[in-house]
Amino acid sequence: MEKVFKIAVLKGDGIGPEVVDAALKVLDKVAELFNVKFEYKEGLIGGIAIDETGDPLPEETLKLCLESDAVLLGAVGGPKWDNLPQDKKPERGLLRIRKALNLYANLRPVKVFDALLGSSPLKPEVAKGTDLMVVRELVSGIYYGEPRGIYEEDGKRCGRNTMKYCEDEIARVARKAFEIARKRRKKLTSVDKANVLDVSALWREVVNEIAKEYPDVELEHLYVDNAAMQLVRRPSTFDVIVTGNIFGDILSDEAGVIPGSLGMLPSASIGDKYALYEPVHGSAPDIAGQGIANPIATILSVAMMLKYSFNLDKAAELVEKAVEETLNQGYRTADIYSEGTIKVNTQEMTEKIIENLERLYRELSF
Ligand code: IPM
Ligand code: MN
Repeated sequence: MEKVFKIAVLKGDGIGPEVVDAALKVLDKVAELFNVKFEYKEGLIGGIAIDETGDPLPEETLKLCLESDAVLLGAVGGPKWDNLPQDKKPERGLLRIRKALNLYANLRPVKVFDALLGSSPLKPEVAKGTDLMVVRELVSGIYYGEPRGIYEEDGKRCGRNTMKYCEDEIARVARKAFEIARKRRKKLTSVDKANVLDVSALWREVVNEIAKEYPDVELEHLYVDNAAMQLVRRPSTFDVIVTGNIFGDILSDEAGVIPGSLGMLPSASIGDKYALYEPVHGSAPDIAGQGIANPIATILSVAMMLKYSFNLDKAAELVEKAVEETLNQGYRTADIYSEGTIKVNTQEMTEKIIENLERLYRELSF
């Protein structure tokens, strides 16, 4: 009997619904070719969930995610909800779902496609060959540490957050990063601020301890300021980068701009039991509803889902190849368009990718 995978589909706001619909079409084709079955169930998250239920992460949505094999998320947020208090904002739905599903490792691959070298803000010879993965700790650190808040001290307003990591939190994300590095080019860069922060000194100590389990992986440590610099000087020399929540937030945006468009970047957030896949780009309210959004980040996110949640490595590889092939054929959405290429909308890009998927499947004869 064919295997059924249950996917919770949270389209969210802005271009979320458009890019998720595109990615589901690709999944449908994968199901057909690889003789598996995907069952989609939709839930509300973000601004639309606030409008309909008053809560950016309704109980029902969380329940749906807990009952699924994987979660596919579009994007959350938009100007309409920007002025709500912190704990009512759409983004809070995202922070809560990460925590509730204990998605402690956030995987953000950054790959520069040769066909798009011209769109990189870096010189082509510097950007060329970049193929790295940021593994960002996602459910702890300064994002969640206590005490936090704005309070009064000596008659003045003060604000504080707490950057705290316990050894088990460092060890589990480090292990994930080592495992990933092992399946790639076997190089891991751990990023911290151990010359100043105690929490980083512990981070480095624990990463070194875990490294003993992975003698085949080469480990280096960089301070975060230096890492920020090296990322734009020699991006192609990095393989896997592991770091804490806020350093990872910043460095993954920096790395993410190297391929030229945020519209290309997928992500996976993984714990021991659950996993959530989403494009790195936001809800892009300025182009929402026009059918011109780049679906590639979400399509590559489902490729990650096929690999990390369903162990369908061949299918994942095929989706990635189909995307690359479509770019090589010159098809571009508006965000990556340049003269001499063929401008297409969301639907056309998706159809081209699916066509290539079918053809490559036949040619590669898995
Ligand atoms: C991200 C985003 C989020 C984060 C925001 C929207 C809460 O920037 O996924 O990187 O800071 O984690
Ligand atoms: Mn971010």
